Amino acid sequence: MNNFLKSKIGYGTYKVTDQKELNNSIKWAILAKYDFIDTAAFYKNETQIGKSIKLFKKEFPKKEILPIQTKIFPNNFKKNIVSELKISLKKLGNLKSIEACLLHRPHVENSMNVKAWKELIKCQKLGLVKYIGVSNFEPDMIRILYNETGVIPQIVQDEASVNSIRNDRIRFCKDNHIMMQGWRPIGLMEKNMKCPLLKNMAKKYKCNVSDILIAFSVAKGYVPIVKSSNEKRIYANVKALKIKLKKEDVIKLELDLNEYQSTITSGADSYAYLYLKK
Ligand SMILES: NC(=O)c1ccc[n+]([C@@H]2O[C@H](COP(=O)([O-])OP(=O)(O)OC[C@H]3O[C@@H](n4cnc5c(N)ncnc54)[C@H](OP(=O)(O)O)[C@@H]3O)[C@@H](O)[C@H]2O)c1
Repeated sequence: MNNFLKSKIGYGTYKVTDQKELNNSIKWAILAKYDFIDTAAFYKNETQIGKSIKLFKKEFPKKEILPIQTKIFPNNFKKNIVSELKISLKKLGNLKSIEACLLHRPHVENSMNVKAWKELIKCQKLGLVKYIGVSNFEPDMIRILYNETGVIPQIVQDEASVNSIRNDRIRFCKDNHIMMQGWRPIGLMEKNMKCPLLKNMAKKYKCNVSDILIAFSVAKGYVPIVKSSNEKRIYANVKALKIKLKKEDVIKLELDLNEYQSTITSGADSYAYLYLKK
């Protein structure tokens, strides 16, 4: 993979901290040819991921290792972002630099977001990170970052699936040539697996419901970040990128299933707020 910004699929690692599970799943993700590994300081698995990669290098010395993307959580925006990124690099296996780093969520004080963004730009200038971006920021918040620094994020990571599509955010990224990544692309998994519309569509395209969900990401123009610890599903999720949904099917899925219920505007932001108040 030469250009990270042209990635087609990222491998998600949220909630996976078990070393054995990561050793296996990271090995499969590399062999299945995902384009990068997505982690975050908040996931508390950077050290384990560093160890899994070291193990993979030992087992497959000739294979290329996947680029890594990490994120800095807002509870640390008051601290020095250069030092925070260096902590992640150390955990990830004493790396000198990383492919991508994002501000994980907006801080409740916008001045903190601007401060953190300025320092992330500094990290890029220092060569600690190649590409920088933000996650879960509204377009208006990104405009402020740009107005204050003259630097627009190269990557935006947002919740995106048939159940939660923000076309305003997709359009914003497209208009500004920003790589958009979609987290939780499988969406409301249990509900989706039983959904008659999705099941019928899977029949029509001769694939599984999960494949339709990934193909939907491709059709909407964002890069799905998918987590699985299962070897078969890790491979299947990459294969699903090849499915081309018809325009009318994409529209049908969106009209029927999009609930605009971003978890960010409900529980997650108030959690971040409480966390910062400590
Ligand atoms: N920036 C943010 O705020 C943010 C927030 C949340 C997540 N993320 C990132 O986005 C990644 C993905 O989000 P997520 O992990 O919440 O959700 P997800 O990848 O949409 O879904 C993960 C779930 O789907 C299952 N799954 C995966 N492939 C499947 C398939 N082909 N068929 C059936 N089930 C399948 C997995 O189970 P198995 O493991 O058993 O296959 C797991 O339970 C995260 O891991 C993280 O890296 C970012």
